[in-house]
Amino acid sequence: MRLWDKGLPLDQKILEFTVGSDYLLDRRLVPYDILASKAHARMLGACGHLAIADVQAIVEALDQAQNDFDQGLWTVELEDEDAHTSLEKRLGELGGKVHLGRSRNDQVLTALRLYLKDVIHVVAVQIEQCQAALATLADEQGDIALPGYTHMQPAMPSCVRDWAAAFSSELGDSLQALQAPLIFLDKNPLGSAAGYGTPGLNLDREQTTHELGFRETHEPVTAPQLSRGKGEASLALGLYLILQDLGRLAADLCLYNTAEFGFVRLPAEFTTGSSIMPQKRNPDVFELVRGHSAQSVGELNAILAITAKMTSGYHRDLQLLKEPLFRLIDRTLACLDTMAHAVPRIEFIRKRTEEANDPSMHAAEKAFQLAKERNISFREAYRQVADELR
Ligand code: ARG
Repeated sequence: MRLWDKGLPLDQKILEFTVGSDYLLDRRLVPYDILASKAHARMLGACGHLAIADVQAIVEALDQAQNDFDQGLWTVELEDEDAHTSLEKRLGELGGKVHLGRSRNDQVLTALRLYLKDVIHVVAVQIEQCQAALATLADEQGDIALPGYTHMQPAMPSCVRDWAAAFSSELGDSLQALQAPLIFLDKNPLGSAAGYGTPGLNLDREQTTHELGFRETHEPVTAPQLSRGKGEASLALGLYLILQDLGRLAADLCLYNTAEFGFVRLPAEFTTGSSIMPQKRNPDVFELVRGHSAQSVGELNAILAITAKMTSGYHRDLQLLKEPLFRLIDRTLACLDTMAHAVPRIEFIRKRTEEANDPSMHAAEKAFQLAKERNISFREAYRQVADELR
């Protein structure tokens, strides 16, 4: 029986369509829904809306539910619709009690925000690991010359250290972009219920804000549903920017790994072969990072599109935000993890990169010197060097 079941049957096709993949996606929200439910129960008890014995029983049942969930004894099934219903059913009679003063609408927002705040933390740690991998590469091979390119033409001399440092620095800035979603995510929506509060039932929303570690309570109660999609969009932008850094790093490595460039070599176990050409060793790993980075544009767009032109309040379309966002999160984590693993194992071929250091790349440097020595304008020095080169 669904929670809102009033004895009328729901068409199976409609159930399957409206649930979609939500029951699968919601599995990762279960621990957060349990946390939020415990906080809600304690608050209800403190406000005198629930007997202390009931609060205790609910908290214990929730702990048990978490244990059973961890051991794979239960999970969210299609028939449950979503994590919130699944958990309430699991608690039986107590589930009905803990639902006093809340709605799945504020429940899903609370669980999502707690989960996304954790994601930000995990991504930050993984970015640091990627930066450490780039630092290892720079420590070990940083002095190797590497042509600097603009328009894919040799531009100025550079080196592996500066190349690696650029990606590390940009990843650091992209990490900063991951603080922006906290503007939206670090507010407690619990107690806003369906989006219009709990008339006649006084809740201490500050208590759950404090217990769940939110920076503030999201007020007025009509705001949380209007904000759904904004934290998601802001986070998706941050993740997209991280993937863009990784995608461009991967694109460089694909180019440097070509036979024509030959700037880098990958360990054999990092390459994949061809089913027809016995000589092939392909850099699939970097091509896929590049591909994941490209696909993240689609996820960002999907997230932006869902709330466009939507009227205020809760709408079921909002459920669709989870799919592209979770996919984007998984992509980002997989790419960061893989790059942190692969980057220190890249071997730069000094002979090849030095050969590629075309002398023309020193032209700007010569012009700087000439301008200083002869006390002439840079433009004049530039012309003299250009004439010499011709
Ligand atoms: N799975 C739903 C979502 O993600 C939960 C909220 C359902 N609320 C409702 N009124 N049908 O949006």
